[in-house]
Amino acid sequence: MTAPRLTIRRPDDWHLHLRDGGMLKGVIGDTARDFARAIIMPNLVPPVVTTTDAKAYRDRILAALKPGDRFEPLMTLYLTEGTNPDDVEEGKKSGLITAVKLYPAGATTNSHGGVRNIDNAMPVLERMAKIGLPLCVHGEVTTPEVDIFDREAVFIETVLDPLRKRLPELKVTMEHVTTKDGIDYIKGSKANLAGSITTHHLIINRNAILVGGIRPHYYCLPVAKRESHRLALRAAAVSGDARFFLGTDSAPHVDPLKECACGCAGIYTSINTMSCLAHVFEEDGALDKLEAFTSLNGPAWYGLAANEETITLEKNVEPVSFPAKIETEAGPVTVFDPMFPLHWDVVR
Ligand code: DOR
Ligand code: ZN
Repeated sequence: MTAPRLTIRRPDDWHLHLRDGGMLKGVIGDTARDFARAIIMPNLVPPVVTTTDAKAYRDRILAALKPGDRFEPLMTLYLTEGTNPDDVEEGKKSGLITAVKLYPAGATTNSHGGVRNIDNAMPVLERMAKIGLPLCVHGEVTTPEVDIFDREAVFIETVLDPLRKRLPELKVTMEHVTTKDGIDYIKGSKANLAGSITTHHLIINRNAILVGGIRPHYYCLPVAKRESHRLALRAAAVSGDARFFLGTDSAPHVDPLKECACGCAGIYTSINTMSCLAHVFEEDGALDKLEAFTSLNGPAWYGLAANEETITLEKNVEPVSFPAKIETEAGPVTVFDPMFPLHWDVVR
């Protein structure tokens, strides 16, 4: 009997952390193997704030690729209250900048330079609306009074919805949606709003982090929510609805920085994302919608053509083995364990 196969357009990753230096060199191959393009997050230390920073970072990414790799990094700028609208417009015009990223100050890894008061970023947001440059949003408030599990819902109500009412022409990507509230908000919008969903949020709920001991390798931000939210994300992802697409948020940290008293947020999924997603979509009887989620909806939203190349996934009888960790010059990085055997793999 021949193994089941599925051929789809080559996927893209619409939210990826590649880091820099030894870590960049250690992880980029895992993305370039399966993905044609990725939106690269700008939360380096120091962050990628200007077009000049983005150009230099893009060059470092391209230099880290191996000969023969075909991968295009799509660059973003880290929005600050001092971002210059002219620089942003220049970046878009030159083709270098695909989006601008809003991190509310303090929301996550390296976000202390992010936006405290969105009013101060209005001039640049207005310019982005005018020139059609999308805003990628880390949609969580950081107010100490707000429970961490409610941060996304409160952000929608107090920041995102008012912003979209004030600037309806601004294209907003709500990144790594983790709640039913987020899914419903996107579904209820008429235009200019879409959402990315990570691999891990389709697979884990908050029990993975907390039941039977604290498991730092399942900790990320936005933190995984209760099961009903995961099911809402699954339903949206497998529905084929063009407003939802893959953004892995693969975010490598070396193990010592995860396995400690105050561990970093981030889950490394670049290496096994396509295997995990094929499993998820098959489980939900929606393998025919996988291509929309990984390869069609994202480019359509960002105004780009879908990739012409294809990849083929094959379902093996024996489980596929991925390394538990990858070694990088920066140190070991634990690979996301979906807690079920993976049978699908990309044919290489
Ligand atoms: O889990 C996360 N890790 N969420 C983010 O928003 C940032 C990321 C990182 O850079 O490590
Ligand atoms: Zn991220």
